Amino acid sequence: MLNIVILAAGLGKRMQSDLPKVLHPLAGKPMLAHVLDNARKLGPDRIVVVVGHGADRVKQAFAGQDDIQFALQSPQYGTGHAVQQAVPLLQDGDDSATLVLYGDVPLVQAATLQGLLDARAGGMAVLTENLSDPSGYGRIVRDGSGQVQRIVEHKDATDDERAITEVNTGILAAPTSRLKDWLSRIDNNNAQGEYYLTDVVGLSVSDGLPVHAAQPSASWETLGVNSRVQQAQLERDWQGEQARRLLEQGVTLADPARFDLRGELICGRDVFIDVGCVFEGRVELADGVRIGPHCVIKDAIIGAGTHIDAYSHVQQARVADEARIGPYARLRPGADIGPQAHVGNFVEIKKSTLGRGSKANHLAYIGDAQVGERVNIGAGTITCNYDGVNKFQTVIEDDAFIGSDSQLVAPVRVGRGATLGAGTTLTKDAPADKLTLSRSVQKTIESWKRPSKKA
Ligand code: UD1
Ligand code: CA
Repeated sequence: MLNIVILAAGLGKRMQSDLPKVLHPLAGKPMLAHVLDNARKLGPDRIVVVVGHGADRVKQAFAGQDDIQFALQSPQYGTGHAVQQAVPLLQDGDDSATLVLYGDVPLVQAATLQGLLDARAGGMAVLTENLSDPSGYGRIVRDGSGQVQRIVEHKDATDDERAITEVNTGILAAPTSRLKDWLSRIDNNNAQGEYYLTDVVGLSVSDGLPVHAAQPSASWETLGVNSRVQQAQLERDWQGEQARRLLEQGVTLADPARFDLRGELICGRDVFIDVGCVFEGRVELADGVRIGPHCVIKDAIIGAGTHIDAYSHVQQARVADEARIGPYARLRPGADIGPQAHVGNFVEIKKSTLGRGSKANHLAYIGDAQVGERVNIGAGTITCNYDGVNKFQTVIEDDAFIGSDSQLVAPVRVGRGATLGAGTTLTKDAPADKLTLSRSVQKTIESWKRPSKKA
């Protein structure tokens, strides 16, 4: 049986923000959401988030996530006091363990936490690290044989203790029933007048239960965020890690330092991603996809061999195989681009399908339209889909040719193989295989002379 307690009651004063600290994002997601996602990978029976400062906003941000329970800590008397507030919600039992995490230490990975739980060996375990500059952290005090004895906070430590470089990351695991007992025995007779969670380590040792230590796989896992500087630094650490994972999977990144993933990116073989791209939500890139520089791609599925060229924006869209998108294309929600289709510069497509091999190469708006196969949409074409109140559909059948600068006033249909002359304002259906145009007859005024300057 596993309980996970996440401490998230602190103020986060150094963030200089109205937003509670744990709601500040990392890779586009609140820090606390990262902690929760990693916590869930351990399959816990209970997750309790201790909230205090900005409690309502924190609860609201996770409303509807039924596996989370909240405990209120108000006022905040320290980390030990914080865990005490969660005690009534913890599931107890012979084999029950409780893992304590911090809401502002967002990146601790499930494998590291599993390592900590395994290190417990039925007793207690703390996650520790060796730092060249341990200043500010609680120090791990060991005896002559190397056994962990207690944790001393920096402010309470002697000079000798301050020389210890092994620090407490704050993350620990303990048998639930023992933890409850120790928490009821800690006091606040210390430099900060707080109830320290770290005091349970000494109590465990004096009760004859050894305390083990485990270390994280990577040092960024245990970095906490107390300021915007640390937030920005950790963002870069995490982006670097995500980039490294993609490189290892065989993705080419033109520059891993200029790559941002705020969500999940699933790549096939031989995918190439140029500099400055941002991926959000869930994005799938099939084999051989090439993404040009400075594209923003959110919640999209891109088919094999498709190229998305520079400065394109794709959101909630699907593109089939071997298509060419951009540069400067915009695919909005519901755009569904067929295989070998081309969508060129300054073309916006919303809630529309573009069939196999169809082309809209320059300056067009296609909204609420069904475009068939091998259709050519000339520059400046606009589907007039909106009368200010309602939206209407445009249908363009296979092999149609839409002359440049045409407006298709929906609802309207262009028949198979039809041609629209340039500049047509189409208000009635255009029949198949015929030329349809709406254009005033061109004339030349023979007698006309340019005005000349009056004397
Ligand atoms: C704590 C540890 C210290 C460790 C360090 C690692 C204690 C006494 N000390 O110190 O050994 O090296 O973390 O960063 O535990 N919180 C609450 N309620 C409170 C106080 C804190 O929820 O009353 C939360 C904070 O929001 C934060 C976490 O607990 O997420 C840690 O609090 P913080 O004040 O940063 O602890 P430190 O003094 O840094
Ligand atoms: Ca801290």
